[in-house]
Amino acid sequence: MRSMEQVLIIGASGGIGAALSVEFAEKGYSVDEISRSVDGFDLTDDRSVAKHLEDRGPYHRVVIATGALEISGISPEKTVKNLTTQSMVDQFTVNAVGPALVLRHAHTLLPRDKACVFAVLSARVGSIGDNRIGGWISYRSAKAALNQIVRTASIEIARSHRKAVLVALHPGTVATSFTEKYVDRHPTVPAKIAARNLIAVMDRLEVAETGGFFDYTGAQVPW
Ligand SMILES: NC(=O)c1ccc[n+]([C@@H]2O[C@H](COP(=O)([O-])OP(=O)(O)OC[C@H]3O[C@@H](n4cnc5c(N)ncnc54)[C@H](OP(=O)(O)O)[C@@H]3O)[C@@H](O)[C@H]2O)c1
Repeated sequence: MRSMEQVLIIGASGGIGAALSVEFAEKGYSVDEISRSVDGFDLTDDRSVAKHLEDRGPYHRVVIATGALEISGISPEKTVKNLTTQSMVDQFTVNAVGPALVLRHAHTLLPRDKACVFAVLSARVGSIGDNRIGGWISYRSAKAALNQIVRTASIEIARSHRKAVLVALHPGTVATSFTEKYVDRHPTVPAKIAARNLIAVMDRLEVAETGGFFDYTGAQVPW
């Protein structure tokens, strides 16, 4: 057991975020949680992000577990013909800009001189190389933008935090409120299993892998 190493879960009210908090606590970590519904943390408002993240850290693990597929009642598009300005802007705001605002604080959230992992929950559907069926254009492209944000930030953070690993992770298809209307007959895993998988991946990551995009088994996902 890692005695009282600190972990920060951003989006701890979500299905995967809550399960990560429980799993980290069971492994002996001291877990700090931030969420919109409990703390009034609004990922899309830079003042709210700054207020909740200033004067925090350093953490051994940080996870951004926020995200949304359906925003303001707008479902993911079946086809590009359904695209609206609002749906695309909302997707980018929550799934790309929000995590980028959090990453502004990565330098102080992570220790400068110790091994640490900062994981951002992305999605395999954000992979351009793996896109074979189209659909969900706003969510897909917001997650693709998120992957570029993680990659860019990882290169910059490595200059001052040489042992830090910053990655985008695909959690698998997980049974949460996020997916309940969309999985159909697609097999899902419980959030507890997803959290265990993600923690195991974080524990195995090497510094050389910073800036990468990995799934819940630790396999690299194509950009
Ligand atoms: N579930 C899956 O199968 C799956 C698959 C691939 C990728 N992912 C990714 O994994 C992440 C977590 O998914 P999940 O299934 O755990 O979703 P979830 O249960 O719907 O949780 C979403 C979380 O995001 C937070 N959130 C949304 N908008 C926010 C905002 N503007 N400000 C602050 N917090 C905000 C929610 O906060 P409140 O509830 O407090 O409002 C909640 O904590 C997402 O990034 C998703 O894209 C999930």
